[in-house]
Amino acid sequence: MRLRGKVAIVTGAAAGLGRAVAVRFACEGAIVVAADINTAGGATVMKQIHASGGEGLFVPTDVSQERDVAALVEETIRRYDRIDVLYNNAAVLFHDRDARAHQLSLETWEQTMSVNLRGAFLCAKHAIPPMLQQGGGSIINLGSPTGMTGCAPNLTAYSTSKAGIFGLTRMMAAGYARDQIRVNAIVPGTMDTPMNDGLLIDEAAREQYREAVPMGRLGLPSDIEGLAVFLASDESAYCTGGLYTCDGGLTTV
Ligand SMILES: NC(=O)c1ccc[n+]([C@@H]2O[C@H](COP(=O)([O-])OP(=O)(O)OC[C@H]3O[C@@H](n4cnc5c(N)ncnc54)[C@H](O)[C@@H]3O)[C@@H](O)[C@H]2O)c1
Repeated sequence: MRLRGKVAIVTGAAAGLGRAVAVRFACEGAIVVAADINTAGGATVMKQIHASGGEGLFVPTDVSQERDVAALVEETIRRYDRIDVLYNNAAVLFHDRDARAHQLSLETWEQTMSVNLRGAFLCAKHAIPPMLQQGGGSIINLGSPTGMTGCAPNLTAYSTSKAGIFGLTRMMAAGYARDQIRVNAIVPGTMDTPMNDGLLIDEAAREQYREAVPMGRLGLPSDIEGLAVFLASDESAYCTGGLYTCDGGLTTV
């Protein structure tokens, strides 16, 4: 067990990549505090965690709301007394409303930014004080290839929020390196998760996205788990400020 004794907050844990990572963290011995706006999905992930002998709790949380995030951290400290890992994973992508800049509504821009970037910032802001007090921690932010290149020109809000995630990762990595708080980003490729349901339901589109991946297949939630465990564990003790792709080679071409 590579995370024994660690307490990990996983946001967006009710579905997709977050759910897989929350369950895997628990299987690796971590106490998992799962946070999400989806309470039904939260109950399901906790059932999975408990069924596999893991420990933890679900805290209904909207990561864009500072009051919710403060309550999430307070509850984690009250119950478990520390936070070793913050897995900043919650995000939204409005396939139907995101657009090129002049066609993008301010509402969609604000909604995307408030969850994807403000949410990651707020969770870090509140999780860092206990990490400072206990002498270290690991923060893992979820980026995207769309934040690295102009590969999704119709997703201005989402892509910009993910570019912001890389900035936040670097700033916090530099700011807290001497405090033994490591901050890294995972960059998944095109993953078969609920976030992409609207896109991948079309067989022709699915085939196009699959064909674009050098490894010839879309990513699965299970593909991300090993990297997440590595960055959460002490095995990555000298890694900070890194952007780690897990994309079947997508960003190499
Ligand atoms: N799926 C992909 O192809 C892909 C590619 C690159 C990066 N990513 C990133 O990986 C992460 C996980 O993506 P996914 O595909 O599993 O997404 P998903 O949509 O399948 O799951 C996201 C989870 O976040 C939760 N969530 C949404 N808004 C929230 C809020 N305000 N507060 C708390 N929770 C909230 C949802 O309820 C859901 O459980 C995201 O950061 C995403 O941007 C995904």
